[in-house]
Amino acid sequence: MGQVSGKIAIVTGAASGIGRSAAIALAREGAKVLATDVDEAGLKETQALISKAGGTVAIAKQDVVDEARWDAVIAETESLFGAPSVLVNNAGIAIGGAIMEYSLADWQKQMAVNTDSVFLGTRAAMRAMVKGGGSIINISSVAGLRGSPGVAAYCASKGAVRLFTKAAAVECGALGLKIRVNSVHPGIIDTPIWQKGITRVTETMSTEQVAAMTAHSGGNSLDPNIVAMGGTPMARAGKPEEVAELIVYLASDASSFTTGQEHVIDGGLTAR
Ligand SMILES: NC(=O)c1ccc[n+]([C@@H]2O[C@H](COP(=O)([O-])OP(=O)(O)OC[C@H]3O[C@@H](n4cnc5c(N)ncnc54)[C@H](O)[C@@H]3O)[C@@H](O)[C@H]2O)c1
Repeated sequence: MGQVSGKIAIVTGAASGIGRSAAIALAREGAKVLATDVDEAGLKETQALISKAGGTVAIAKQDVVDEARWDAVIAETESLFGAPSVLVNNAGIAIGGAIMEYSLADWQKQMAVNTDSVFLGTRAAMRAMVKGGGSIINISSVAGLRGSPGVAAYCASKGAVRLFTKAAAVECGALGLKIRVNSVHPGIIDTPIWQKGITRVTETMSTEQVAAMTAHSGGNSLDPNIVAMGGTPMARAGKPEEVAELIVYLASDASSFTTGQEHVIDGGLTAR
């Protein structure tokens, strides 16, 4: 018996990084997985990896900020596998930049992809889990626990995920729903996100300023293993597979009394 045998899981942002690893690990442990993302080529790779290992997986293109698409994704899950019992709200981006240079458009995009999506996904999943219960896992960050220069909007988006998660957990309890809601707060994890979004940091600041700003948070095309050396007691970046094991635990009945909590996985980064 796998740790999540019989469960039906939706994982967003499953074409890459932590989402892909979570989809693989959930399928390995017996869940039927619907993997979604905007990146269809990446999704196909995730699907191939899971299928090759004998897991059950389907894929669906989904922009997590599209409200109507959430209803369709839930309906697709129900028709393929049955009612979802696990949702991993993982899709996310990082748009860096100093506050004084930051545009409202970037702020709104950052909040939409990282925070609106978590509200939309949680709402859709709660509606679908009213009868059967379930576990909703929202991927926040250590950036949702403390501030870092150069990534203020990202911090705000992840801080909102942290407290929305707690409120949702309390509300599920108040409504008598058997739905648990938890957040996961990774530290520096070796995924492609480090080569993607934080470009505006370098457009507006000197090399020295960028180095100072990114010591704890992120930067432009950085090697996460080098960044991690600065502030992580374990002196390395985490692997997405390591975060996936925590996600499996929170999806599984082994965490049946755990809700509304922030689960930090950061090699000790926030311990000092
Ligand atoms: N890697 C880290 O160091 C780290 C640390 C803390 C938190 N996180 C969080 O973990 C989550 C996963 O990040 P990752 O590191 O695996 O990054 P990643 O870039 O490897 O993967 C993110 C995935 O999300 C998808 N995505 C982006 N916007 C989307 C949208 N609008 N709709 C649907 N899919 C979309 C991307 O296509 C990509 O496949 C994010 O929420 C990120 O903020 C990452």
